[in-house]
Amino acid sequence: MAATTRRVLSLVLLSLTFFLLLHPCPTDSNPLKICNFDEIYQLGDSISDTGNLIRETPIGAATAFAKLPYGETYFNKATGRCSNGLLMIDYFALAAGLPFLNPYKNNDANFTHGANFAVAGSTALSVEDLAGKNISTVVTGSSLSVQLDWMFTHFNSICHTERDCIEKLRNSLFMVGEIGGNDYNYALFQGKTIEEVQNIVPDVVRAIKEAVRRVINYGAVRVVVPGNFPIGCMPIYLTAFQTNNSAAYDEYHCLKHLNNFSIYHNDQLKQAIEELKREYPSAVIVYGDYYNAFEWLFRRAPHLGFDVESAQKACCGTGGDYNFSLAKMCGAPGVPVCPNPNQAISWDGVHLTEAAYKIMSGWLIHDILPKLQCSV
Ligand SMILES: *[C@@H]1O[C@H](CO)[C@@H](O)[C@H](O)[C@H]1NC(C)=O
Ligand SMILES: *[C@@H]1O[C@H](CO)[C@@H](O)[C@H](O)[C@H]1NC(C)=O
Ligand SMILES: *[C@@H]1O[C@H](CO)[C@@H](O)[C@H](O)[C@H]1NC(C)=O
Ligand SMILES: *[C@@H]1O[C@H](CO)[C@@H](O)[C@H](O)[C@H]1NC(C)=O
Ligand SMILES: *[C@@H]1O[C@H](CO)[C@@H](O)[C@H](O)[C@H]1NC(C)=O
Repeated sequence: MAATTRRVLSLVLLSLTFFLLLHPCPTDSNPLKICNFDEIYQLGDSISDTGNLIRETPIGAATAFAKLPYGETYFNKATGRCSNGLLMIDYFALAAGLPFLNPYKNNDANFTHGANFAVAGSTALSVEDLAGKNISTVVTGSSLSVQLDWMFTHFNSICHTERDCIEKLRNSLFMVGEIGGNDYNYALFQGKTIEEVQNIVPDVVRAIKEAVRRVINYGAVRVVVPGNFPIGCMPIYLTAFQTNNSAAYDEYHCLKHLNNFSIYHNDQLKQAIEELKREYPSAVIVYGDYYNAFEWLFRRAPHLGFDVESAQKACCGTGGDYNFSLAKMCGAPGVPVCPNPNQAISWDGVHLTEAAYKIMSGWLIHDILPKLQCSV
Protein backbone atom coordinates (compact mmCIF):
# COMPACT_ATOMS: atom_id res chain seq x y z
CA MET A 1 0.00 0.00 0.00
CA ALA A 2 2.60 2.50 1.16
CA ALA A 3 4.88 1.46 -1.68
CA THR A 4 2.12 2.12 -4.22
CA THR A 5 1.38 5.51 -2.73
CA ARG A 6 5.03 6.35 -2.80
CA ARG A 7 5.29 5.27 -6.42
CA VAL A 8 2.31 7.35 -7.41
CA LEU A 9 3.71 10.33 -5.54
CA SER A 10 7.13 10.06 -7.11
CA LEU A 11 5.46 9.74 -10.52
CA VAL A 12 3.49 12.91 -9.90
CA LEU A 13 6.63 14.69 -8.72
CA LEU A 14 8.55 13.41 -11.73
CA SER A 15 5.99 14.73 -14.18
CA LEU A 16 5.84 18.00 -12.29
CA THR A 17 9.61 18.30 -12.59
CA PHE A 18 9.42 17.57 -16.28
CA PHE A 19 6.73 20.15 -16.68
CA LEU A 20 8.73 22.80 -14.86
CA LEU A 21 11.90 21.91 -16.73
CA LEU A 22 10.10 22.34 -19.98
CA HIS A 23 8.44 25.53 -18.87
CA PRO A 24 11.28 27.32 -17.12
CA CYS A 25 9.56 30.64 -17.52
CA PRO A 26 5.80 30.13 -17.33
CA THR A 27 5.15 33.86 -17.10
CA ASP A 28 6.88 34.54 -20.42
CA SER A 29 4.04 34.36 -22.91
CA ASN A 30 6.12 35.65 -25.83
CA PRO A 31 9.28 33.52 -25.68
CA LEU A 32 10.00 34.00 -29.41
CA LYS A 33 10.03 37.77 -29.05
CA ILE A 34 13.79 37.78 -28.49
CA CYS A 35 14.11 36.74 -32.15
CA ASN A 36 12.46 40.00 -33.26
CA PHE A 37 10.72 38.32 -36.16
CA ASP A 38 8.96 40.82 -38.42
CA GLU A 39 7.12 38.17 -40.41
CA ILE A 40 6.27 34.48 -40.35
CA TYR A 41 5.71 32.51 -43.56
CA GLN A 42 4.12 29.09 -43.54
CA LEU A 43 3.97 26.30 -46.13
CA GLY A 44 2.11 23.10 -45.33
CA ASP A 45 -1.18 21.22 -45.05
CA SER A 46 -4.16 21.01 -42.68
CA ILE A 47 -1.91 21.09 -39.63
CA SER A 48 -1.27 24.78 -40.40
CA ASP A 49 -3.89 25.99 -42.94
CA THR A 50 -5.60 29.08 -41.49
CA GLY A 51 -8.12 29.41 -44.33
CA ASN A 52 -6.72 28.71 -47.79
CA LEU A 53 -8.54 25.50 -48.70
CA ILE A 54 -11.99 26.92 -47.97
CA ARG A 55 -11.26 29.93 -50.21
CA GLU A 56 -9.45 28.13 -52.98
CA THR A 57 -12.18 26.26 -54.86
CA PRO A 58 -15.86 25.35 -54.51
CA ILE A 59 -14.70 21.88 -53.45
CA GLY A 60 -12.67 23.43 -50.65
CA ALA A 61 -15.54 25.70 -49.66
CA ALA A 62 -17.78 22.64 -49.38
CA THR A 63 -15.54 20.81 -46.91
CA ALA A 64 -16.50 20.43 -43.26
CA PHE A 65 -13.66 22.81 -42.31
CA ALA A 66 -15.76 25.71 -43.62
CA LYS A 67 -18.52 25.08 -41.06
CA LEU A 68 -19.05 24.75 -37.34
CA PRO A 69 -18.20 22.89 -35.15
CA TYR A 70 -14.75 23.66 -36.64
CA GLY A 71 -13.53 26.81 -34.92
CA GLU A 72 -16.26 26.77 -32.27
CA THR A 73 -13.99 26.97 -29.22
CA TYR A 74 -11.86 29.98 -30.09
CA PHE A 75 -13.52 31.81 -32.96
CA ASN A 76 -17.15 30.84 -32.50
CA LYS A 77 -17.19 30.35 -36.27
CA ALA A 78 -15.28 28.34 -38.85
CA THR A 79 -12.13 29.95 -40.26
CA GLY A 80 -10.84 27.04 -42.31
CA ARG A 81 -8.60 25.85 -39.48
CA CYS A 82 -8.88 22.07 -39.06
CA SER A 83 -9.48 22.16 -35.32
CA ASN A 84 -11.91 23.52 -32.75
CA GLY A 85 -9.66 26.56 -32.30
CA LEU A 86 -6.06 27.64 -32.65
CA LEU A 87 -3.32 25.72 -34.44
CA MET A 88 0.36 25.44 -33.58
CA ILE A 89 1.20 28.21 -36.07
CA ASP A 90 -1.19 30.52 -34.18
CA TYR A 91 0.67 29.79 -30.95
CA PHE A 92 3.96 30.43 -32.73
CA ALA A 93 2.67 33.81 -33.90
CA LEU A 94 1.48 34.65 -30.37
CA ALA A 95 4.85 33.60 -28.94
CA ALA A 96 6.59 35.89 -31.45
CA GLY A 97 4.29 38.77 -30.52
CA LEU A 98 2.83 38.86 -34.03
CA PRO A 99 -0.77 38.68 -35.28
CA PHE A 100 -2.17 35.36 -36.58
CA LEU A 101 -1.03 34.62 -40.13
CA ASN A 102 -3.61 35.45 -42.75
CA PRO A 103 -4.29 32.90 -45.44
CA TYR A 104 -2.75 33.94 -48.76
CA LYS A 105 -6.04 33.19 -50.52
CA ASN A 106 -7.76 35.94 -48.57
CA ASN A 107 -7.32 38.78 -51.07
CA ASP A 108 -8.39 41.44 -48.58
CA ALA A 109 -5.95 40.39 -45.90
CA ASN A 110 -3.01 42.30 -44.48
CA PHE A 111 0.29 40.49 -45.03
CA THR A 112 2.53 42.98 -43.24
CA HIS A 113 3.61 40.33 -40.74
CA GLY A 114 3.74 37.36 -43.06
CA ALA A 115 1.44 35.03 -44.91
CA ASN A 116 0.18 31.50 -44.70
CA PHE A 117 0.37 29.42 -47.89
CA ALA A 118 -0.59 26.09 -46.31
CA VAL A 119 -3.56 24.26 -47.80
CA ALA A 120 -5.46 21.49 -46.01
CA GLY A 121 -5.23 18.24 -47.94
CA SER A 122 -2.14 19.29 -49.85
CA THR A 123 0.83 17.08 -50.59
CA ALA A 124 4.61 17.40 -50.81
CA LEU A 125 4.60 15.77 -54.25
CA SER A 126 2.70 17.25 -57.15
CA VAL A 127 -0.60 15.81 -58.34
CA GLU A 128 1.20 14.52 -61.46
CA ASP A 129 4.00 12.85 -59.51
CA LEU A 130 1.47 11.15 -57.25
CA ALA A 131 -0.67 10.08 -60.20
CA GLY A 132 2.45 8.50 -61.68
CA LYS A 133 2.58 6.38 -58.52
CA ASN A 134 -1.12 5.55 -58.79
CA ILE A 135 -2.02 7.78 -55.85
CA SER A 136 -4.82 10.29 -56.31
CA THR A 137 -5.16 13.52 -54.39
CA VAL A 138 -8.48 14.28 -52.77
CA VAL A 139 -9.41 17.94 -52.21
CA THR A 140 -6.66 20.17 -53.60
CA GLY A 141 -3.94 20.35 -56.22
CA SER A 142 -2.03 23.02 -54.31
CA SER A 143 0.99 20.93 -53.47
CA LEU A 144 4.22 22.29 -52.03
CA SER A 145 5.57 23.55 -55.38
CA VAL A 146 2.30 25.41 -56.06
CA GLN A 147 2.52 27.05 -52.61
CA LEU A 148 6.12 28.04 -53.37
CA ASP A 149 4.95 29.65 -56.61
CA TRP A 150 2.39 31.68 -54.63
CA MET A 151 5.13 32.66 -52.22
CA PHE A 152 7.32 33.79 -55.12
CA THR A 153 4.46 35.86 -56.57
CA HIS A 154 3.87 37.40 -53.16
CA PHE A 155 7.52 38.33 -52.66
CA ASN A 156 7.61 39.82 -56.16
CA SER A 157 4.73 42.04 -55.13
CA ILE A 158 6.38 43.28 -51.92
CA CYS A 159 10.05 43.56 -52.99
CA HIS A 160 11.43 45.92 -55.61
CA THR A 161 14.60 43.94 -56.29
CA GLU A 162 16.12 40.63 -55.27
CA ARG A 163 18.42 42.43 -52.83
CA ASP A 164 15.46 44.25 -51.37
CA CYS A 165 13.78 40.90 -50.68
CA ILE A 166 16.85 39.44 -49.02
CA GLU A 167 16.93 42.52 -46.79
CA LYS A 168 13.19 42.27 -46.03
CA LEU A 169 13.21 38.56 -45.22
CA ARG A 170 16.26 38.59 -42.97
CA ASN A 171 14.08 38.86 -39.88
CA SER A 172 11.44 36.36 -40.99
CA LEU A 173 10.65 32.92 -39.69
CA PHE A 174 9.86 30.29 -42.33
CA MET A 175 7.92 27.13 -41.55
CA VAL A 176 8.34 24.51 -44.27
CA GLY A 177 5.76 21.90 -43.22
CA GLU A 178 4.59 19.72 -41.76
CA ILE A 179 3.99 18.46 -45.28
CA GLY A 180 4.09 14.95 -46.75
CA GLY A 181 1.65 13.46 -44.26
CA ASN A 182 -1.09 13.50 -46.90
CA ASP A 183 1.07 11.85 -49.55
CA TYR A 184 1.24 8.93 -47.12
CA ASN A 185 -2.38 9.18 -45.95
CA TYR A 186 -3.68 8.99 -49.51
CA ALA A 187 -1.36 6.11 -50.40
CA LEU A 188 -2.28 4.10 -47.29
CA PHE A 189 -6.02 4.72 -47.63
CA GLN A 190 -5.87 3.86 -51.33
CA GLY A 191 -4.66 0.40 -50.45
CA LYS A 192 -0.86 0.66 -50.67
CA THR A 193 1.13 -1.38 -48.16
CA ILE A 194 3.57 0.22 -45.72
CA GLU A 195 6.42 -1.24 -47.77
CA GLU A 196 5.08 0.41 -50.92
CA VAL A 197 4.61 3.71 -49.11
CA GLN A 198 8.16 3.52 -47.75
CA ASN A 199 9.31 3.65 -51.36
CA ILE A 200 7.90 7.15 -51.81
CA VAL A 201 9.57 8.57 -48.68
CA PRO A 202 12.79 9.55 -50.51
CA ASP A 203 10.74 11.46 -53.11
CA VAL A 204 8.71 13.26 -50.43
CA VAL A 205 11.85 14.18 -48.51
CA ARG A 206 13.52 15.39 -51.73
CA ALA A 207 10.50 17.66 -52.40
CA ILE A 208 10.74 19.16 -48.89
CA LYS A 209 14.49 19.61 -49.30
CA GLU A 210 13.95 21.40 -52.59
CA ALA A 211 11.35 23.66 -50.92
CA VAL A 212 13.89 24.65 -48.25
CA ARG A 213 16.39 25.49 -51.00
CA ARG A 214 13.81 27.67 -52.71
CA VAL A 215 12.88 29.65 -49.59
CA ILE A 216 16.55 30.19 -48.76
CA ASN A 217 17.10 31.42 -52.30
CA TYR A 218 14.21 33.88 -51.81
CA GLY A 219 16.10 35.22 -48.79
CA ALA A 220 15.03 33.08 -45.81
CA VAL A 221 17.55 32.90 -42.98
CA ARG A 222 15.63 30.98 -40.29
CA VAL A 223 13.76 27.90 -41.44
CA VAL A 224 11.92 25.33 -39.33
CA VAL A 225 11.20 22.00 -41.03
CA PRO A 226 8.71 19.92 -39.03
CA GLY A 227 8.47 16.15 -39.26
CA ASN A 228 5.45 13.88 -39.04
CA PHE A 229 3.32 12.88 -36.02
CA PRO A 230 3.24 9.37 -34.58
CA ILE A 231 0.32 8.54 -36.86
CA GLY A 232 -0.24 5.15 -35.20
CA CYS A 233 -1.75 7.02 -32.21
CA MET A 234 -4.44 8.82 -34.27
CA PRO A 235 -8.09 7.65 -34.25
CA ILE A 236 -8.24 7.55 -38.08
CA TYR A 237 -5.37 5.07 -38.24
CA LEU A 238 -6.36 3.20 -35.08
CA THR A 239 -9.75 2.65 -36.70
CA ALA A 240 -8.59 1.75 -40.20
CA PHE A 241 -5.84 -0.62 -39.02
CA GLN A 242 -7.61 -1.99 -35.95
CA THR A 243 -6.53 -5.54 -35.20
CA ASN A 244 -7.01 -8.26 -32.58
CA ASN A 245 -3.29 -8.91 -32.62
CA SER A 246 -2.17 -7.24 -29.40
CA ALA A 247 1.48 -7.42 -30.50
CA ALA A 248 0.67 -4.77 -33.11
CA TYR A 249 0.24 -2.16 -30.34
CA ASP A 250 2.84 -0.52 -28.14
CA GLU A 251 2.38 0.11 -24.41
CA TYR A 252 0.35 3.28 -25.15
CA HIS A 253 -1.95 1.40 -27.53
CA CYS A 254 -0.54 3.03 -30.65
CA LEU A 255 0.04 0.98 -33.79
CA LYS A 256 3.73 0.17 -33.85
CA HIS A 257 4.21 -0.26 -37.58
CA LEU A 258 2.61 3.12 -38.33
CA ASN A 259 4.66 4.99 -35.72
CA ASN A 260 7.66 3.18 -37.10
CA PHE A 261 6.79 4.52 -40.52
CA SER A 262 6.69 8.10 -39.19
CA ILE A 263 10.12 7.54 -37.66
CA TYR A 264 11.33 6.26 -41.02
CA HIS A 265 10.17 9.50 -42.71
CA ASN A 266 11.48 11.70 -39.89
CA ASP A 267 14.92 10.08 -39.93
CA GLN A 268 15.28 10.73 -43.65
CA LEU A 269 14.05 14.30 -43.17
CA LYS A 270 16.60 14.92 -40.42
CA GLN A 271 19.31 13.54 -42.71
CA ALA A 272 18.19 15.96 -45.44
CA ILE A 273 18.33 18.85 -42.96
CA GLU A 274 21.92 17.96 -42.08
CA GLU A 275 22.79 18.04 -45.78
CA LEU A 276 21.05 21.39 -46.20
CA LYS A 277 22.97 22.85 -43.26
CA ARG A 278 26.22 21.98 -45.01
CA GLU A 279 24.90 23.41 -48.26
CA TYR A 280 23.79 26.69 -46.61
CA PRO A 281 26.11 27.38 -43.69
CA SER A 282 24.77 30.91 -43.21
CA ALA A 283 21.14 29.80 -42.88
CA VAL A 284 19.65 28.43 -39.65
CA ILE A 285 17.68 25.28 -40.44
CA VAL A 286 15.95 23.55 -37.54
CA TYR A 287 14.02 20.29 -37.35
CA GLY A 288 10.54 20.66 -35.82
CA ASP A 289 10.06 17.55 -33.72
CA TYR A 290 6.29 17.03 -33.90
CA TYR A 291 6.80 13.34 -33.17
CA ASN A 292 8.34 13.85 -29.75
CA ALA A 293 6.19 16.88 -28.94
CA PHE A 294 3.09 14.73 -29.46
CA GLU A 295 4.53 11.77 -27.63
CA TRP A 296 5.44 13.98 -24.67
CA LEU A 297 1.87 15.25 -24.51
CA PHE A 298 0.33 11.82 -25.01
CA ARG A 299 2.36 10.12 -22.29
CA ARG A 300 1.66 12.86 -19.75
CA ALA A 301 -1.94 13.43 -20.82
CA PRO A 302 -3.44 12.88 -17.32
CA HIS A 303 -1.05 15.38 -15.72
CA LEU A 304 -1.72 17.93 -18.43
CA GLY A 305 -5.46 18.01 -17.83
CA PHE A 306 -6.61 15.67 -20.57
CA ASP A 307 -9.26 13.03 -20.09
CA VAL A 308 -7.32 9.75 -20.17
CA GLU A 309 -10.37 7.62 -20.89
CA SER A 310 -10.82 9.30 -24.26
CA ALA A 311 -7.18 10.06 -25.09
CA GLN A 312 -7.51 8.05 -28.31
CA LYS A 313 -11.06 9.08 -29.17
CA ALA A 314 -12.08 11.81 -31.55
CA CYS A 315 -13.89 14.55 -29.63
CA CYS A 316 -16.01 15.35 -32.65
CA GLY A 317 -16.98 12.01 -34.07
CA THR A 318 -19.09 8.96 -33.67
CA GLY A 319 -18.85 5.21 -33.81
CA GLY A 320 -16.31 2.52 -33.05
CA ASP A 321 -13.72 2.22 -30.33
CA TYR A 322 -12.11 5.53 -31.26
CA ASN A 323 -15.23 7.61 -31.85
CA PHE A 324 -14.34 7.78 -35.49
CA SER A 325 -15.85 6.62 -38.73
CA LEU A 326 -14.65 7.58 -42.19
CA ALA A 327 -18.25 7.38 -43.36
CA LYS A 328 -19.52 9.85 -40.74
CA MET A 329 -16.83 12.32 -39.81
CA CYS A 330 -16.88 15.54 -37.81
CA GLY A 331 -19.03 18.11 -39.59
CA ALA A 332 -21.44 15.55 -41.05
CA PRO A 333 -25.07 15.91 -39.92
CA GLY A 334 -25.72 14.52 -36.47
CA VAL A 335 -22.08 14.02 -35.49
CA PRO A 336 -21.74 15.21 -31.87
CA VAL A 337 -18.95 17.13 -30.18
CA CYS A 338 -17.69 15.91 -26.81
CA PRO A 339 -18.81 17.98 -23.80
CA ASN A 340 -15.32 19.26 -22.97
CA PRO A 341 -13.01 19.73 -25.98
CA ASN A 342 -10.42 21.32 -23.66
CA GLN A 343 -9.83 17.86 -22.18
CA ALA A 344 -9.59 16.08 -25.53
CA ILE A 345 -6.47 15.45 -27.61
CA SER A 346 -7.95 14.48 -30.95
CA TRP A 347 -10.48 16.87 -32.38
CA ASP A 348 -11.87 14.99 -35.39
CA GLY A 349 -9.82 11.81 -35.45
CA VAL A 350 -7.34 13.32 -37.91
CA HIS A 351 -6.45 16.70 -36.39
CA LEU A 352 -5.81 17.71 -32.80
CA THR A 353 -7.72 20.03 -30.50
CA GLU A 354 -6.61 23.55 -29.68
CA ALA A 355 -5.70 22.29 -26.19
CA ALA A 356 -3.35 19.67 -27.64
CA TYR A 357 -1.82 22.09 -30.15
CA LYS A 358 -1.19 24.57 -27.34
CA ILE A 359 0.79 22.03 -25.32
CA MET A 360 2.66 20.80 -28.40
CA SER A 361 3.66 24.29 -29.46
CA GLY A 362 4.90 25.07 -25.93
CA TRP A 363 7.14 22.02 -26.10
CA LEU A 364 8.27 22.87 -29.63
CA ILE A 365 9.08 26.50 -28.95
CA HIS A 366 11.15 25.47 -25.96
CA ASP A 367 12.98 22.91 -28.11
CA ILE A 368 13.49 25.17 -31.13
CA LEU A 369 14.30 28.52 -29.52
CA PRO A 370 17.95 27.84 -28.59
CA LYS A 371 18.55 26.29 -32.02
CA LEU A 372 17.28 29.41 -33.80
CA GLN A 373 20.35 31.29 -32.52
CA CYS A 374 18.38 34.49 -32.08
CA SER A 375 20.60 36.06 -29.45
CA VAL A 376 23.83 35.93 -31.48
C1 LIG B 1 -1.48 46.26 -42.05
O1 LIG B 1 -0.98 45.98 -40.75
C2 LIG B 1 0.06 46.84 -40.34
C3 LIG B 1 0.65 46.35 -39.03
O2 LIG B 1 -0.22 45.55 -38.31
C4 LIG B 1 -0.45 48.26 -40.26
O3 LIG B 1 0.60 49.12 -39.88
C5 LIG B 1 -0.98 48.67 -41.63
O4 LIG B 1 -1.56 49.95 -41.54
C6 LIG B 1 -2.02 47.69 -42.12
N1 LIG B 1 -2.36 48.01 -43.50
C7 LIG B 1 -3.62 48.19 -43.88
C8 LIG B 1 -3.83 48.54 -45.32
O5 LIG B 1 -4.55 48.07 -43.12
C1 LIG C 1 -4.01 1.72 -58.63
O1 LIG C 1 -4.69 1.86 -57.39
C2 LIG C 1 -5.97 1.25 -57.34
C3 LIG C 1 -6.55 1.55 -55.96
O2 LIG C 1 -6.65 2.92 -55.73
C4 LIG C 1 -5.83 -0.25 -57.58
O3 LIG C 1 -7.13 -0.82 -57.61
C5 LIG C 1 -5.10 -0.50 -58.90
O4 LIG C 1 -4.85 -1.88 -59.04
C6 LIG C 1 -3.77 0.24 -58.93
N1 LIG C 1 -3.15 0.11 -60.24
C7 LIG C 1 -1.86 -0.21 -60.39
C8 LIG C 1 -1.37 -0.26 -61.81
O5 LIG C 1 -1.12 -0.44 -59.46
C1 LIG D 1 -11.60 -9.33 -33.42
O1 LIG D 1 -12.22 -10.47 -32.84
C2 LIG D 1 -13.63 -10.41 -32.71
C3 LIG D 1 -14.13 -11.65 -31.95
O2 LIG D 1 -13.39 -12.78 -32.31
C4 LIG D 1 -14.25 -10.25 -34.10
O3 LIG D 1 -15.65 -10.14 -34.00
C5 LIG D 1 -13.69 -8.99 -34.77
O4 LIG D 1 -14.19 -8.87 -36.06
C6 LIG D 1 -12.17 -9.03 -34.78
N1 LIG D 1 -11.71 -7.71 -35.23
C7 LIG D 1 -10.73 -7.54 -36.10
C8 LIG D 1 -10.38 -6.15 -36.46
O5 LIG D 1 -10.12 -8.47 -36.62
C1 LIG E 1 10.35 -0.68 -38.42
O1 LIG E 1 10.97 -0.17 -39.58
C2 LIG E 1 12.16 -0.82 -39.96
C3 LIG E 1 12.70 -0.13 -41.18
O2 LIG E 1 12.82 1.22 -40.94
C4 LIG E 1 11.86 -2.30 -40.24
O3 LIG E 1 13.05 -2.97 -40.52
C5 LIG E 1 11.16 -2.93 -39.02
O4 LIG E 1 10.77 -4.25 -39.34
C6 LIG E 1 9.94 -2.13 -38.64
N1 LIG E 1 9.31 -2.67 -37.45
C7 LIG E 1 7.98 -2.72 -37.29
C8 LIG E 1 7.47 -3.25 -35.99
O5 LIG E 1 7.20 -2.35 -38.13
C1 LIG F 1 -17.96 10.04 -28.73
O1 LIG F 1 -19.13 10.13 -29.50
C2 LIG F 1 -20.32 10.34 -28.77
C3 LIG F 1 -21.49 10.25 -29.70
O2 LIG F 1 -21.45 9.11 -30.50
C4 LIG F 1 -20.21 11.65 -28.05
O3 LIG F 1 -21.41 11.97 -27.39
C5 LIG F 1 -19.05 11.58 -27.09
O4 LIG F 1 -18.88 12.78 -26.41
C6 LIG F 1 -17.77 11.21 -27.78
N1 LIG F 1 -16.78 10.88 -26.76
C7 LIG F 1 -15.60 11.40 -26.70
C8 LIG F 1 -14.75 10.95 -25.58
O5 LIG F 1 -15.15 12.16 -27.50
